[in-house]
Amino acid sequence: MNFLNNVEIAAKYIKEGKLVAFPTETVYGLGANALNPLAVAKIFELKERPSFDPLIIHIANIDQLEQLVEKTDERVYRLAEKFWPGPLTMVLPKSNLVPDIVTSGLPTVGIRMPNNEIALELIRKSDCPIAAPSANKFGRISPTTADHVKKQLPSVDYILDGGKTSVGIESTIIKLTDYGFQILRNGIITQEELETILPFDSISVIEKLSAPGMLKSHYSPKKMFLIANNSTSKIDKSKAGLISFSGELEAGYSKIIRVSETKDLKDYAVNMFEAMHSFEDDNDIEIIIAETVKEVGIGKAIMDRLRKAEFSWRQA
Ligand code: TXA
Ligand code: MG
Repeated sequence: MNFLNNVEIAAKYIKEGKLVAFPTETVYGLGANALNPLAVAKIFELKERPSFDPLIIHIANIDQLEQLVEKTDERVYRLAEKFWPGPLTMVLPKSNLVPDIVTSGLPTVGIRMPNNEIALELIRKSDCPIAAPSANKFGRISPTTADHVKKQLPSVDYILDGGKTSVGIESTIIKLTDYGFQILRNGIITQEELETILPFDSISVIEKLSAPGMLKSHYSPKKMFLIANNSTSKIDKSKAGLISFSGELEAGYSKIIRVSETKDLKDYAVNMFEAMHSFEDDNDIEIIIAETVKEVGIGKAIMDRLRKAEFSWRQA
């Protein structure tokens, strides 16, 4: 496996139907030519991802959007104008060009233009839109560095190393309805920001779908992972690592990772998955505890990730 930063080589691999892990501003993606069903099938295989979980397609210009969707309307252009390139995925009716394997047979496709120069250059040089989920094994912690990708997917054909990602959690996913937009997955772009462009649809029922935002368990470390509350205050802190935000819970913990020096929720998003990886890799740590935040603004996306990472452990 290569670990070089050569976009030319990576693009050649994409054209040959191989898989390339690449940085975006959110997390690293595991990319393939979105128009090549055989290449896309390799993503599901390497990630051990169930075939019912559809992929996002990454584009570098608006022409590509128009090829991939059945129809656009002016709302899509307004959102694109404001938030692209950036961490917003729009779920739209797909065109015939999009292979069914990408959308898991759904009539819609998720599309975003990432705000990362390496990602955009890769898409341009590959001369095709790139389908990419996060570059981790299904259900496990998302990667925010090339090392995280290497840890979980050592046999990927190529990894483009763009350093640590700048946002740290996955894109906000929205769906457009007759009344406005619905949020399928929370991210750094908040409901309030989206509402400056379009009304939030609180009327339509959200379709039960397999957005990871909708699976109860996801983003999970291999070690016991719990959200801090009254019961976790009684655990043996000498074997526990704390993901700390406010600094107020730190007493007694064997190891602490402070995710923000200034209590900024954006820093929590940027450093959360890295902190999970770091404790997962630390032999002295048996339990990982994460501090909660208020569920407003970006806090919604952070708590969503923490709850899903905790889910299977809470059941245990
Ligand atoms: O920030 C991100 O979105 C990252 C980077 C790599 O772009 N990608 C990412 O992909 O998080 P992934 O596959 O880990 O999560 C994307 C989720 C899928 O699990 C799927 O459920 C949802 O987006 N999705 C994709 N297409 C959809 C569709 N047509 N309808 C509903 N949900 C969809
Ligand atoms: Mg993912």
